[in-house]
Amino acid sequence: MKCAVYPGSFDPVTLGHIDIIKRAAVMYDKLIVAVLINKGKKSLFSIEERVLMLKEALKDIDNVVVDSFDGLLVDYAKKQNASIIVRGLRMVTDFEYELQIAQTNRKISDDTVDTIFLVTDLQYAYLSSSTVKEVAVFGGDITKFVPDFVAKATYEKYKNQDE
Ligand code: PNS
Repeated sequence: MKCAVYPGSFDPVTLGHIDIIKRAAVMYDKLIVAVLINKGKKSLFSIEERVLMLKEALKDIDNVVVDSFDGLLVDYAKKQNASIIVRGLRMVTDFEYELQIAQTNRKISDDTVDTIFLVTDLQYAYLSSSTVKEVAVFGGDITKFVPDFVAKATYEKYKNQDE
């Protein structure tokens, strides 16, 4: 059984992430969408909220499971019997960073974990969780960038922060 991991912060999940997940899911028997537990990074949504939102967004894809992890990604991948990491590439600047991480991950896994890159669909090339938050914090329309229930949850977060 070929298992792959699609890791990320997903704070929050965007339509760009979902597009990559759908395309990767048809390539592998099982795709684990893994949310990084990063205590050092301030996030808008808690790990539990991010996992729940991903589960809701991906509930119709049978071979996708959502999980969270901390520590090294390659250790997590090995524990899950996954030999592939999936990452999306939006632009050249992504590539420089991702190449370095992919090479590091291959090295520290003794060449057992490889990274596969999927090129982001053009319509999502500009999209990131950070820009979604930037637009939402000023009350802009994010419904073109994230599923409707994620947009609602994001506006709610900022509303509660203001109160
Ligand atoms: O969505 P992001 O924030 O671009 O995802 C980054 C992620 C989670 C893939 C990356 O930070 C990661 O894998 N972190 C775990 C620590 C690790 O294994 N780093 C790679 C070796 S430098």
